[in-house]
Amino acid sequence: MCGIVGYIGREKKAEKVVIEGLYRLEYRGYDSAGLAYVEDNKIKVVRAKGAVSGLDKKSSNIQPQDLAIGHTRWATHGKPSEENAHPHESFKGELAIVHNGIIENYKHLKELLMDEGYIFNSETDTEVLANWIEHTKLKRDLNLVDAVHEALKFVHGAYAICVVEPSAEMIVCAKKSSPLAVGIGDDSFIIGSDATPIIGRAKEVIYLEDNQIAIVTRDKLQVKDIDNRDTGFFPEKLLLDLQAVEKKGFESFMMKEIHEQPETIADCLRGRLAAAGPEIALGGIEDVMPRLLRAKKITIVSCGTSWHSALIGKYLIESLTRIPVEVDYASEYRYRKPIISNDDVVVGITQSGETADTKAALEMAKGKGALILGVVNVVGSSIARLSNAGIYTHSGTEIGVASTKAFTGQVAAITMLAIKLSHRLGHIDDEKLMDLKDALAIIPDQVQEILDDSAAIESVASIYANYDDFLYLGRGINFPVALEGALKLKEISYIHAEGYPAGEMKHGPIALIDESCPSVFVMPHDDSYEKTVSNLQEIRARSGKVIAVTDKEDKNLTEAADAVIIIPKTEPELTPLLTTIPLQIFSHKIARIRNKDVDKPRNLAKSVTVE
Ligand code: G6P
Repeated sequence: MCGIVGYIGREKKAEKVVIEGLYRLEYRGYDSAGLAYVEDNKIKVVRAKGAVSGLDKKSSNIQPQDLAIGHTRWATHGKPSEENAHPHESFKGELAIVHNGIIENYKHLKELLMDEGYIFNSETDTEVLANWIEHTKLKRDLNLVDAVHEALKFVHGAYAICVVEPSAEMIVCAKKSSPLAVGIGDDSFIIGSDATPIIGRAKEVIYLEDNQIAIVTRDKLQVKDIDNRDTGFFPEKLLLDLQAVEKKGFESFMMKEIHEQPETIADCLRGRLAAAGPEIALGGIEDVMPRLLRAKKITIVSCGTSWHSALIGKYLIESLTRIPVEVDYASEYRYRKPIISNDDVVVGITQSGETADTKAALEMAKGKGALILGVVNVVGSSIARLSNAGIYTHSGTEIGVASTKAFTGQVAAITMLAIKLSHRLGHIDDEKLMDLKDALAIIPDQVQEILDDSAAIESVASIYANYDDFLYLGRGINFPVALEGALKLKEISYIHAEGYPAGEMKHGPIALIDESCPSVFVMPHDDSYEKTVSNLQEIRARSGKVIAVTDKEDKNLTEAADAVIIIPKTEPELTPLLTTIPLQIFSHKIARIRNKDVDKPRNLAKSVTVE
């Protein structure tokens, strides 16, 4: 997600503070970065696609500055590229801007500006905003503050902006719907899209209100309201612990990340569902669509949690597209002499984009002529680079070792891929596509509903915190969710937990069942529901405790199960995005009751770069 940093002060260290601030904002996820400063009364802009380290390298020769603004961009309008990265300088060089948010009427403003002779160098709504402010300034002969104020009256949408001009006297900030904070240091002001870049550099901070404009000079901060009247401001003490701020008050990064899922799933869907026409827009695979559509076989390789997303992908792609899908552990695929041909598509699903086994498996398949698709979270990572095409999941940096928001991001991405292919191949019509898109669009709100009810899930978890063995069971697409639920519990609480297909349970694991081994059933009301109820009864008949995750009250189920967790109703193809959430909360609570360090479980690493 986009991030903003700005510095203006008495010391000449603006470019350093801004770059360091951008590094700190990396956790939000982004695809390019940039900064602007002023030299000899001219605005200078440095931008780089990919990681902040790329921008850092490119800016190493900048003379020390006392004013700079910077940005990490997460693409909304226009692909990730240097041209589309912020800051954007206006056409006539009057100002440069960094912007978080979306300008909804940018097309209209762009047309007006083009009629005035403006030429655009990027596809972004932000460049339109830069030029719109410049046009207002020049046409009405206004100073920068009044120009920002007047220009924004015609802007619809969400924004947090910082604007600088060649005189380098001030940074003008404004916000509506997107957050913006100004830190008040001893001899400087530091601006941030959240407090992260400000920590350690200022003890007090103000959080701008919607429609306010802040005028920040080297020695003064002034805040104005929508009517251009001085409002004064009320600084708050800034927490000094970076980690505490990053955790946003949650007890662990994992819990913070669980709660970020409405936002991160929305980020993954954003722009892709809202494409013109019925299509789902997956820009990163458009060029290879013809080859994808004639694929004879799709193989998905991955590790750990990502392997569970791969299995969900198999259920969805096969049922929706009728293309055969194989799923393999990357570490197995590499060494089992797989049959790979030029017609094959090999998909690597990976949060980090650096997992050694996944990378080696994809390199091998690429060497044999397969088309490589990456479903990757970390922008510019090794696997993102080696893939021929791909889908970024845009889940932001995941710090908790046990994957939560990255998993739901992967599931959202692979679900969109399956639906898109299915529609292009003619297996679903426009109507079904629209139904699925509508259902996907409300998933973030439905995840929020589940999170709002966390206390109920945690109270079920409290009852089961002292059991040492668990079975997680589900049929069809619910089976990989069961696997993921079991993995989450074992990773962070060190409890023995096994995921199994509910129908297969009677062929072995049922031997484990007694009153000391509870079973968690993942069982929304889909085609397999009735059969799963029968499996549940088999467990009850052997004195096993049962916790059921379902999507509708059912008297028979309530009577049969010891606890029932109800999630909102969605299309059968999308249930993994919802059934997963209570299992994450359940595991987290049990691990906390057992006093485990959920963010750093023993023996595990976030990114495994050894084979
Ligand atoms: C490690 C992590 C897991 C993760 C797996 C794959 O084992 O502990 O949580 O699922 O790597 O990581 P990737 O980055 O490729 O998704």
